Amino acid sequence: MPESIYSVFSHILPADRLHESDAVLDVHSVDETEDLCFRPGLVAEPVSTEEVSELLKCAHKHGIPVTAAGARTGLSGGALAVRGGLALSLRRMDKIIQIDEVNHQAVVEPGVITEVLQNAAAEKDLFYAVDPASRGTCTIGGNLAENSGGPRAVKYGVTKDWVLNLEVVLADGSVIETGANTLKNSTGYNLTGLMVGSEGTLGVITRATLKLLPLPKFQALMFVPFESVDDACRAVSAVFRAGVMPSAMEFMESDAMRLAQTFTGNYDIELDDKHSAYLLVEVDGFSAEDLMPQCEKMLPVLESHNCGEILFANSSAEQEKLWFLRRRVGEAVKAESVYKEEDTVVPRGLLPQLMKVVKRIGGEYEFRSICYGHAGDGNLHINILKDSMSDEKWDEELPKAISELFEKVVEMGGTLSGEHGIGLVQAPYMGIACSPAQLGVMKSIKKALDPTGILNPGKIFPEI
Ligand code: LAC
Ligand code: ZN
Repeated sequence: MPESIYSVFSHILPADRLHESDAVLDVHSVDETEDLCFRPGLVAEPVSTEEVSELLKCAHKHGIPVTAAGARTGLSGGALAVRGGLALSLRRMDKIIQIDEVNHQAVVEPGVITEVLQNAAAEKDLFYAVDPASRGTCTIGGNLAENSGGPRAVKYGVTKDWVLNLEVVLADGSVIETGANTLKNSTGYNLTGLMVGSEGTLGVITRATLKLLPLPKFQALMFVPFESVDDACRAVSAVFRAGVMPSAMEFMESDAMRLAQTFTGNYDIELDDKHSAYLLVEVDGFSAEDLMPQCEKMLPVLESHNCGEILFANSSAEQEKLWFLRRRVGEAVKAESVYKEEDTVVPRGLLPQLMKVVKRIGGEYEFRSICYGHAGDGNLHINILKDSMSDEKWDEELPKAISELFEKVVEMGGTLSGEHGIGLVQAPYMGIACSPAQLGVMKSIKKALDPTGILNPGKIFPEI
């Protein structure tokens, strides 16, 4: 057995792409999940599929855990090397290999920043629709691993809906393609679908072929205040029932907006104390004329749910101000207190009930919660703040509150995570959402693809 993890891999990568210094290991010990910190033994920065393959072959041979990571913006701990071993940073594999204007496809490496791809597509009047709140920093590889969503998912779907084909390095170093670069594919099992959202537990994605759309260049954005949280939540499904398909339908409790203002120092948007919740509703189209009919359909619905005075953001600068605040709510909450973030999702029409359950459980267990998220998807980010709660209560009572919340969510036909993944932090609760038989199928797949369990161990299923 070689004496150090460095010496196991040192024949594969040059020294400047293989790190064991404290400084680099510290950086790779955290992602954006709560205050978690797990140190890898070594950080590798491959630049090609061949290098990833060699690293995995070697890790497989020596039984060393491998945790792939992109920009480490994840919120479930998916990129944390909880059992040590090799942190496989895909950041240097950041080439946009092709934007195919004939077939409306992009071929990219996993380290491409999502917004960089969006901008490159937009230059050719094309649209990469997936739009996580962290689009300026997160990577396509991370989005694929966690099946990320974001505000536009309500109209355009989540990452899985835009993937045609993947190149994946398997646990033993072999390389496969999961599908074909075609819009349709009924050729065998849907391996592409299997890999997307598998959180680095089944293989390492080294290349992706993604679908693009013609770019919708026109947006109208409405910021809609409500005195009652319940009215805001009930308005959500009513808008869809009126025959409108917004390109974003976001919900924020007023505390979320206020925290974002304090965090960013940007108070351009005036908030009135009497309002306890807001909807941020966007419609898009290919011409300015596409927008007004959609807004006109929504107005009576919002008014019938007792909304206050609506702010219409007409210019792109005004729209940007609202999105700027919305996209920073997550970071703002993190800056406020130690917290836990749940990513629950229920059928859209049950959002009002979900909010009531959250506040009831919060009352019983005496925690403050700040909720916001993708209301049109029924996807609520429930932030539970520690504030002055004792460590003992936080560690021992809070998991009971979270279990109770998840049980109610599952009773409503919902599930644990809509877009952040299970990773480390939701893994203990998998049995609430999945039957033993369903978990058994998942574990069999894991065993078949990663028989020695080197790929991101400790994730999704805590015992593997
Ligand atoms: C958001 C992230 C937290 O929606 O998913 O802001
Ligand atoms: Zn989100």
